[in-house]
Amino acid sequence: MWETCSYMGVVIGEEMFRRYLSIFSRSNRTHYVPEVIVEASGSKVRSASGKYFLDLSSSGATMIVGYNHPKVVEAVCSQARRVLHYTYMYGMNFPALELGEKLLEITGVEDGKILYGLSGSDASESALMLVKAWSGNDLIVSFEGDFHGVFDLSASSSCIDLERQVCEAVNCGKAVACLPYPDPYRCPFGDVDDCGREAVKFMKAFVDELVEKRVQPAAFIVEPLQGDSGIVVPSEGFLREVKKQAERVNAPVIVDEIQTGLGRTGKWFAYQYDGIEPDLVLLGKPLGGGLPLSAVVGKAEIMDSLPTMSLAFTLSGNPVACSAGLATIRVIEEEGLVERAAYLGYKALKELRDFARKHPLVGDVRGKGLMIGVDLVKDPETKERAVDEAKKVVYRAYQLGVLVLSVNGNVLRIQPPINISEELLMEGINILEQAIEDVENGAVGDEALKVVVGW
Ligand SMILES: Cc1ncc(COP(=O)(O)O)c(C=O)c1O
Repeated sequence: MWETCSYMGVVIGEEMFRRYLSIFSRSNRTHYVPEVIVEASGSKVRSASGKYFLDLSSSGATMIVGYNHPKVVEAVCSQARRVLHYTYMYGMNFPALELGEKLLEITGVEDGKILYGLSGSDASESALMLVKAWSGNDLIVSFEGDFHGVFDLSASSSCIDLERQVCEAVNCGKAVACLPYPDPYRCPFGDVDDCGREAVKFMKAFVDELVEKRVQPAAFIVEPLQGDSGIVVPSEGFLREVKKQAERVNAPVIVDEIQTGLGRTGKWFAYQYDGIEPDLVLLGKPLGGGLPLSAVVGKAEIMDSLPTMSLAFTLSGNPVACSAGLATIRVIEEEGLVERAAYLGYKALKELRDFARKHPLVGDVRGKGLMIGVDLVKDPETKERAVDEAKKVVYRAYQLGVLVLSVNGNVLRIQPPINISEELLMEGINILEQAIEDVENGAVGDEALKVVVGW
């Protein structure tokens, strides 16, 4: 299963995997396929063993305009030649300002201000600290299945099993209420006519109680379309209701666009589907064009609610990362990629839904734009998650030349660069379908489970 080769004096294969496991903390990573990526361009990557793969994952939904887009590379190189870093914390640089002004423009946050960080998790953490300071309140209202980050407040407001385990172990902040998220496929209210209506009813009753007890939350935080719990698209209008209920208790709404932002879902930001104006927007993943960069964009009075330097990171606002981010946004604008993501998403969803009708392993296909989930189930009636089967599909797709990730155990996560050609996208999807069919037919053995760990 492991092919061995040597690259720049390093032996690739089981030996490399063993060395990885021996030095890197398991808390820091997981594993999907036994390859070392050494070059990439557009939607394709080349591994040290000389194989090419079509990447339907954009490296964890980061490489939104593809790998090594010439304009992004040029922006990085020309900035790097001038100055790699002079800390924005103590000084000024042009790319940080230009990108910041652009983010205010595209998010539409009025009277907005920005802070930069290095990862989605620190953006969530910073935003949650700001709303607590601004409001003087503790309670954070979040939603089942939301993932916001791995630190104290961001982990405790992530209503998923993994972060619950973490919070149990390290005693994270406890003042979080996880309300039901209207997942139309696995509705938390069971077999009801309208999952969205039930979720709104629940949220309204919860807020009624807060009003009665005179409890004001620090904020509501929400993923407009859940990523890591399995690409869950909420019932239409849900975000509007979140905003409405939050307003009843004067609580700001933080929309986590770390995975959905910058055109991925067919709008610049997924909250635009519901026409709301968030108080704070979280950005990360594709923001730095592949370099570490995150941002919180929000109302000035909230953004300035903590003292000078209290949320400063020495390497944030790095001019090279900001140049890469700015170039990425320009490419999205110039190439009309937001509309393109919507168009390609429509095509891909149609193809996958047609395929699903004939394949009982596929319980559901859902998504918006180029953020698509394929939910594999052991039985379409019980909807039991087909976790081993999902790992086998990931492995088989890899053997056939396509990289795809799984989340929440059983959901295949399709998030290619949004400038992928239609032909290549359809080719990748057809290969993925072949992989699903092969697993259904029992053609993929259990050895795949030793390689694909996933999460
Ligand atoms: C919606 C969302 N919020 C926050 C995060 C955390 O971002 P990071 O991994 O960059 O810390 C992620 C990462 O997957 C995410 O998808």
